Amino acid sequence: MTQDELKAQVGQAAVDLVPEGAVIGVGTGSTVNHFIDALARAGRAVAGAVSSSDASSQRLRAHGIPVLEACAVQRLPVYVDGADEIDALGFMIKGGGAALTREKIVADLAERFVCIADQSKLVPVLGAFPLPVEVIPMAVAQLVRRFATLGGSATLREGVRTDNGLPILDVRGLSITDPLAMEAQVSQWPGVVTVGIFARHRASVCLLGTPEGVRRIDFAPL
Ligand code: A5P
Repeated sequence: MTQDELKAQVGQAAVDLVPEGAVIGVGTGSTVNHFIDALARAGRAVAGAVSSSDASSQRLRAHGIPVLEACAVQRLPVYVDGADEIDALGFMIKGGGAALTREKIVADLAERFVCIADQSKLVPVLGAFPLPVEVIPMAVAQLVRRFATLGGSATLREGVRTDNGLPILDVRGLSITDPLAMEAQVSQWPGVVTVGIFARHRASVCLLGTPEGVRRIDFAPL
């Protein structure tokens, strides 16, 4: 099976975890695109979605699924999103699609984070995928120096601005052995808007696409 077929498989499987009639959180990326399409195909009546990107909002609306502002809801039963990497505890790197800030905001509203990913995303230690960090432009040089002290090499993502109009740094060479600690540390640096480590907002469950079928991993409380 191709990677895209594996993504389609988990996008389809995630529909079963969507409560009928609920407002749900919807993430961003090629796996989530499969989920949105499968949701529409299934005719599963959701009341609406809070979306983490303009691209997902557009796709949801094209299928006739109402898109709500985050400030219109207090709680979401579930947030469905992909990941760039996920480890055995449900900690993730996200932001390959530059939507990390809105993704963390929507994840923060959700009771459960359902991660949908093909099997290549499951890793023993986070960090082989360059860590995305959304930043304020005037802090870029200082943040590059700060990441160097952690052993990381940070570079601006060429020609990319987020939906918030801000640049992204991609940090290579990190081995993120303590995601909770690194997320807390980097989040405190002036000029960091969002770091793409999802540790406080880790996955509750992961649907992993494999050639043998969907593998479900439930993450126990820490
Ligand atoms: C978007 O910013 C990311 O966090 C995506 O969730 C992540 O890059 C996964 O993307 P794919 O589903 O396209 O692999």
